[in-house]
Amino acid sequence: MALGHFTFLSAFLALSTACVRANLVSDLLWGLNVTVGGRLSEAKPVALPCFHYYEGQAVQRNDGECAQVEAGYTSPTYRVSRFNDYMMSHWETCQSTSEQCVLDSSNPSNPQAWQEFNCSQGSIAPHYIDVRYPTDVLAAYTFSAATGTPLVIKNTGHDYKGRSSQKGALALWTHNLQSISWSKTFVPQGCPKSKQYAAMTTGAGVGWQTAYEYADANNFTVIGGYHQTVGVSGGWVMGGGHSILTPVYGLGVDRVVQFKIVTPDGIYRTANECQNTDLFWALRGGGGGTFGVVMETTSIVEPHPLFSSASMKFTATANNTQGWLSIVVNSTYKWGTEGWGGHIGPSNLINVTPLLTLDEAKDSLKEASDYVTSQGGTVVIETLPSWWAFFSKYVISAQSAVGQDYLLGSRLMPSALFQSDDGKQKILDALVDMLPVANPYIVVGTPFLYNETAGATSVNPVWYDSLWHLSFHTAFEFDSTLEEKKAAYQAGNDIVKTFRAIAPDSGAYMNEGLVYEPDYQQSYWGSNYDRLLSIKKKYDPFGILDCWQCGKCIVTYAEA
Ligand SMILES: Cc1cc2nc3c(=O)[nH]c(=O)nc-3n(C[C@H](O)[C@H](O)[C@H](O)COP(=O)(O)OP(=O)(O)OC[C@H]3O[C@@H](n4cnc5c(N)ncnc54)[C@H](O)[C@@H]3O)c2cc1C
Ligand SMILES: *[C@@H]1O[C@H](CO)[C@@H](O)[C@H](O)[C@H]1NC(C)=O
Ligand SMILES: *[C@@H]1O[C@H](CO)[C@@H](O)[C@H](O)[C@H]1NC(C)=O
Ligand SMILES: *[C@@H]1O[C@H](CO)[C@@H](O)[C@H](O)[C@H]1NC(C)=O
Ligand SMILES: *[C@@H]1O[C@H](CO)[C@@H](O)[C@H](O)[C@H]1NC(C)=O
Ligand SMILES: *[C@@H]1O[C@H](CO)[C@@H](O)[C@H](O)[C@H]1NC(C)=O
Ligand SMILES: *[C@@H]1O[C@H](CO)[C@@H](O)[C@H](O)[C@H]1NC(C)=O
Repeated sequence: MALGHFTFLSAFLALSTACVRANLVSDLLWGLNVTVGGRLSEAKPVALPCFHYYEGQAVQRNDGECAQVEAGYTSPTYRVSRFNDYMMSHWETCQSTSEQCVLDSSNPSNPQAWQEFNCSQGSIAPHYIDVRYPTDVLAAYTFSAATGTPLVIKNTGHDYKGRSSQKGALALWTHNLQSISWSKTFVPQGCPKSKQYAAMTTGAGVGWQTAYEYADANNFTVIGGYHQTVGVSGGWVMGGGHSILTPVYGLGVDRVVQFKIVTPDGIYRTANECQNTDLFWALRGGGGGTFGVVMETTSIVEPHPLFSSASMKFTATANNTQGWLSIVVNSTYKWGTEGWGGHIGPSNLINVTPLLTLDEAKDSLKEASDYVTSQGGTVVIETLPSWWAFFSKYVISAQSAVGQDYLLGSRLMPSALFQSDDGKQKILDALVDMLPVANPYIVVGTPFLYNETAGATSVNPVWYDSLWHLSFHTAFEFDSTLEEKKAAYQAGNDIVKTFRAIAPDSGAYMNEGLVYEPDYQQSYWGSNYDRLLSIKKKYDPFGILDCWQCGKCIVTYAEA
C-alpha cells in the first residue's frame, strides 16, 4: 500500500494563504473523518463534567457525570477504556503551567481540584482516530504531512514518559484492536515451514489480563507484564518488556516473532526474521511510537510451567529494613542462578521460579523467610499450577493504584556487583541512603538465565548480564507548585546519580527510567543506538513520528 495524496495536498497547502488555512484544516479534518469511516472524534478531558470553566468559557457542571469520573478515577480498567485518560494524570496536563483538568487522586471528591483550578485541555490531543484498519493510519500520515499536525500513538496510556499524549496532536488510539488467536504451528510470513513456533497473535489493543485469561483457557502460558491493563503489543514489547518470569523465559523483545506495522513511509509491512529484518530488530527494543503504528504482534508461548512462588511481608520499623535489604543483596546472585524473578521492597517480596520444587524453594529462601518470621511478618511459599493462578491470587488483588503523578527512576544492576563484597556493600549503601526519600522497588526481571540469540534485539545489551532493574518513584500532587514538581524530578535524578556511580557502564530500562536521563542514547540503547537511528531515518524519512518532547508543555525541571 503506497501513500498517494502527499504531493497533491502539500501543493494545495503551499498555495493557500494563512487566513484560509484554518478553514482548510477543518475541511481536511472533515475529509479525514470520511476516510476513516467516521471514527474521528473530538477529545476533552475526562474530568470536565466536574468543572465550571473549560478553556476560559463557563460550562455547566454535571454532578452525575462527575460522580462517575470520581468513582473510576484510580481504576486502571476505567482509565484504559477511555481515550482521554492516562494512568499517570500529569501526562494529561501541562506540567509547567498547571493547565489541567484533573482530580485529587488521593481523594477524587476533594472539591479543591475544581475550585482552585479551571479545566484546560492540557496535553490531551483534541482529536483522535479509533484505529481499526491500516488505511486509518495511512490517512493520519497523509493528514499530518499536509497540515503539519503532529501525530501521537496511544494504546493504554501507561507510559511513564508521557510518550502517548501530546498537546495539539492528532492521536491514533489502538485500544479497539482486540483480536486474539494462537497456533501451535505459527510460521512467520515469508519464512520456510521449518521455522515453526507455538505462538499467540494479538491486536495492538489487547491488554495483559485479556491475554492471560485467553492463554489459560487454552492451556498455555504467555510471558508478560505485572499489571492487568499494560498492552501486549505497544510500548511494553517495543521497549523491552519485563516479566517476573523473564529470568528464565526472556524479555518481551526476546519472545516476539512478528510485527505487522504501518510505517511512516506509507507501507503496511510485516517484520520478522525473514522479511524487513532491520525493522524487526529495531522494533525489538527501539521503543514504541517511533517506527510506525503496530497493528498486531505474535509472540512465542510456553506450556504451563509448574512453579514455586513466595510471598513475604512484614511491618517495617526504624531498624529492620537494613537487615532485610542486606539478606536480599547477599542472596541475589544465588537466587539468580535458581531462576527466581519477582519484585522486592523494603519490607516485602513476591517471587516465582519455574526451576525449583517446593522443598528446594523453601530451602533457597530460608534465611529471608526466617528473618521475616522473626519480625512478626507473614511467609507463604507454595507451588501453583499456572501463571493465571498466580496472577489472579497475587497481582489482581494487589493492583497498583493509578491516577497518581509518579515519576520513575531506575538502573540495571550488573551481575558482577553481586559477586563481590565491595559491590554488595555499595548496593546496600545506595538502598539505605535512598530510604528517607523513596522506597527501592527491586524488579528481578532481567533475562539472566535466558539463552538469548546474540544481537537479536536492540535493547541495551547490558540487560542480559544484569540481575536487577532497580527502580523507585517520586511523586507530586494535583495542586503541587512548579517548585514542588521540580523538586520531585530533582530528587529522582539525585537518587539515580547514586545508582549510576556504582554501575557506570550499565544502562537503564527506557520504559521505566528518568524522564531526564542524561545521555539517554547510551543508557537506553548502548551500542545499538547508531544502528537504530539509521533504521529510523530509513522508515520515517520525514520525521512524521517525532520526538516525545515536541509540543509538550513540560520544562526541564532537573539537572542531571
Ligand atoms: C502500573 C504499571 C505497571 C507496569 N508494569 C510493567 C511490567 O510489568 N513490565 C514492564 O516491562 N513494563 C511495565 N510498565 C511500563 C510499560 O512497559 C510502559 O508504560 C509501556 O510504555 C506501556 O506501553 P503501552 O502501549 O501499554 O502504553 P502507551 O502509554 O499507550 O504507549 C507507550 C508508548 O508506546 C507507543 N505505542 C503504543 N501502542 C503503539 C502501537 N500500536 N504502535 C506503535 N507505538 C505504540 C506510544 O506511542 C508510546 O510511545 C508498567 C507501567 C505501569 C503504569
Ligand atoms: C466524524 O463522523 C462521525 C459520523 O458521521 C460523527 O459522528 C463524528 O462527530 C465526526 N467527527 C468529528 C470530529 O467531527
Ligand atoms: C476560572 O475562570 C474564570 C473565568 O475566566 C475566572 O473568573 C476564575 O478566576 C478562574 N478560576 C481559577 C481558579 O483560575
Ligand atoms: C495442557 O497441556 C499439557 C502439556 O502442555 C498437557 O499435558 C495437558 O494434557 C493439557 N491439558 C489440557 C486440558 O488440554
Ligand atoms: C530495634 O531493634 C531492637 C533489637 O532488635 C528492638 O529491641 C527495638 O525495639 C527496635 N527498635 C524499633 C524502633 O523498632
Ligand atoms: C552480607 O554479606 C556481607 C559480606 O559481604 C556481610 O558482612 C553481611 O553481614 C551479610 N549480611 C547478612 C545479613 O548476612
Ligand atoms: C541455556 O542453555 C544451557 C546449555 O544448553 C541449558 O543447560 C540451560 O538449561 C538453558 N537455560 C534456559 C533457561 O533455558
